[in-house]
Amino acid sequence: MFEKDSYVLIVGDESVKKRRGFKRTWNALSRFQKNLIVIICLAVLLLWMFVFIQRKNLRIDAEVEHVNLRKPDSSHNEEGDKIRIIPLFKDNQLSIKMQEEIVDNADNWDDAIKNLVNANGEVNSDDTKNSIDNPQAVESNNKNIEPQKSELKKDKQDDTQISFKGPTNDRQRAVVAAMKHSWMGYKTYAFGHDNLKPISQTYSDWFNLGLTIVDALDTLYIMDMQEEYGEGKRWVESEMNLDVNRDVNLFETTIRVLGGLLSMYHLSGEEIYLTKAKDLGRRLMPSFNTPSKIPFSDVNLNTLSAHAPKWSPDSSTSEVTTIQLEFRDLSRILNDPSFENAAAMVSQKIHELPKTDGLVPIFINANTGTFRTFSTISLGARGDSYYEYLLKQWLQIGKQPDHYLIEDYKEAIAGVIKNLRKETPNEHHIYIGELISGKDFKPKMDHLTCYLPGTLLLGYKNGMPQSHFTLATELLETCYQTYIKQPTGLAPEITYFNLEGESSTDIYVKANDAHNLQRPEFIESLYYFYAITGNKTYQDMGWNIFQSFEKYTRVSHGYTSINNVRNAKDVRPKDMMETFWLGETLKYFYLLFSDDRNEIDLDKFIFNTEAHLIPIREN
Ligand SMILES: *[C@@H]1O[C@H](CO)[C@@H](O)[C@H](O)[C@H]1NC(C)=O
Repeated sequence: MFEKDSYVLIVGDESVKKRRGFKRTWNALSRFQKNLIVIICLAVLLLWMFVFIQRKNLRIDAEVEHVNLRKPDSSHNEEGDKIRIIPLFKDNQLSIKMQEEIVDNADNWDDAIKNLVNANGEVNSDDTKNSIDNPQAVESNNKNIEPQKSELKKDKQDDTQISFKGPTNDRQRAVVAAMKHSWMGYKTYAFGHDNLKPISQTYSDWFNLGLTIVDALDTLYIMDMQEEYGEGKRWVESEMNLDVNRDVNLFETTIRVLGGLLSMYHLSGEEIYLTKAKDLGRRLMPSFNTPSKIPFSDVNLNTLSAHAPKWSPDSSTSEVTTIQLEFRDLSRILNDPSFENAAAMVSQKIHELPKTDGLVPIFINANTGTFRTFSTISLGARGDSYYEYLLKQWLQIGKQPDHYLIEDYKEAIAGVIKNLRKETPNEHHIYIGELISGKDFKPKMDHLTCYLPGTLLLGYKNGMPQSHFTLATELLETCYQTYIKQPTGLAPEITYFNLEGESSTDIYVKANDAHNLQRPEFIESLYYFYAITGNKTYQDMGWNIFQSFEKYTRVSHGYTSINNVRNAKDVRPKDMMETFWLGETLKYFYLLFSDDRNEIDLDKFIFNTEAHLIPIREN
């Protein structure tokens, strides 16, 4: 009965609006003004065409097909007729049918659209008809597949739920106080936004997803900060909006938001987190719809179109290989393999590519599925968590012997020891450098690389060779030196090492690299060392660093990144509180200072690369 009055809606396109006053305004202009406008328009058009042609081949066609945009005219709508609005996402490879909306007359059009977008954004676990999940469609080629009913089949949660008792000693209480202070500043000046700018007492947005809240939730939960946790949870329940018409980074959104939601679901057993995680997982899936199955880096959560980053045709290797824990976990909870399949395919593809002693270049092209020739090999930015997730994925799937993931991991660490491990001439610090263009050694180590000692130790605990333990111990000590050698006691973003006498000191910092973003990686490693060995020396090392953070990064309304760790008198605050300060750094501090080093059981849980908890389960 609705066939006659069908309309197709373009979600997210507001361009066709308000044309009425245009003609009159135009006629009122002088000839000169008209010419000027025409010339400007032509110039803009040419520029746009130029950019478009450049970018066209990078895009996938998962955008909404512009079929028909017409608001129904009330006069054509006979009394009692209903209008059926069908949102249609369509391209050659993927067709997703979404919930429809029926309105009584055209005056309700705008509201109906809003409802519709909300309805399709929100996933109601009880409503199996309301569904944009069509996981198989992403895998299929040139076929439209009808949406399939997906069941929210829950696993037994009993084994992953934990209740926490709160701090048991002064150091832990100090960390809780830091968390409280961070949350208070965020809540007062930035609640619902991505980041707090604590000095200007305002906020900044990146993906518009309330990143600080989702990243901080499980930390609040673990610290048993019930009041603050309740504030965050209520925001997720009633205000969190995943239907943002904005490009988000697949990797960042996966590790922070999807990871944070999954972690909370496991720890608390609360359904709301799974509902949100499922909705988000589906919105991220179009990223995988590429010729090579290597995902694009960016995806719009509203239009569901995905593409390569604006600045490059390539995705970062660490980004495409650091989403697997989360997508696999989502699949396991939902009993729907599509998420895991798409993400695991990426690991499989990377496994098949040629490498240098197991080491990977830091850029990969999502169209061709090959590494960029002559790109850098690094255990720091854009490379780091590839290695981390090889080990952690293998743990997640139950340590299957001879699995390619662990074989690749072992080969890579051997490759690190052979190609990247160096010792400084005077003070004999062991560090990991980089290979520029894949071959020229550069004695530079990102603070990001300081995750490696912890990961190596976790691997050693799970059967990796002695050489991994040795390297872990050596690197942990060097990372500690990058902190305590600075007047502030805080490490810079990047440290250089004396290779062959070019520097008077064995460890040095360049002016542009002297910032500290309150990153977690070294604290994370200290936590693993303490949790696995029980040696309290690691707690003391962490306590020194915690006090430096208190001294140099605490401000009236939160904590801030700083620009200069080399001058204790002038650290030059950046006016930015990163989400990982709450999500990771403070969490690892808290667990490091715990009297019970098994507060989190490392045989039952894996921390994702953003310190969110994912359970280990044998397949
Ligand atoms: C604890 O760790 C420190 C630093 O690695 C080491 O010097 C010390 O010998 C260890 N203590 C014990 C009891 O193993």
